[in-house]
Amino acid sequence: MTSLPKARVAVLISGRGSNMLALADAAADPACPYEIVLVASNDPEAAGLAAAAARGIPTWAQSHKGMKRAEFDALVDARLRAAGVEWIALAGYMRILSTEFISGWEGRMLNIHPSLLPKYKGLDTHARAIAAGDGVGGVSVHLVTAELDDGPVLAQVEVPIFPDDTPDTLAARVLIEEHRLYPRVLAQMVTR
Ligand code: GAR
Repeated sequence: MTSLPKARVAVLISGRGSNMLALADAAADPACPYEIVLVASNDPEAAGLAAAAARGIPTWAQSHKGMKRAEFDALVDARLRAAGVEWIALAGYMRILSTEFISGWEGRMLNIHPSLLPKYKGLDTHARAIAAGDGVGGVSVHLVTAELDDGPVLAQVEVPIFPDDTPDTLAARVLIEEHRLYPRVLAQMVTR
């Protein structure tokens, strides 16, 4: 039996990369329909880069500092295309993307965001959910469009908010669900 070629995914990170590692863990299953061919970052110090390299995943990093947004994104785009990337998974990539970059990857770029979108786009999602007195928070995976943290929601998981929650305790509870949800949604998308 010949197996289908796997979808070639790049994961873009800016920090510790725990979602990237969850995607990589799932990709280690021979039945996984995607493979991670590159982990790229706008921060050469991002901890996730070393974690990816330790698993034998190719990494690339370039600081965006001192560069115009479109100029930096064109560099990233060229690197992804050189690696034969077909899909992008943003995983804690804390950089607003240029419209040129987004339109070049339309329908093939996913993002994970720690709120029940359309609630709490942007930063400090957990603090804002707690401050609002919400009884439930969660995580969303969505397709990336030109508007920040917008675009069609592909899947969400709700997580309860308890009265004694802090942003950190809530973030930890949501993160567990992030790690479960993202590999599942990515696998579904690349096999549609
Ligand atoms: C995750 O919680 C992710 O949902 C969030 O950043 C964290 C990155 O953690 N993303 C955003 O807030 C995007 N707007 P990780 O580096 O351990 O995956």
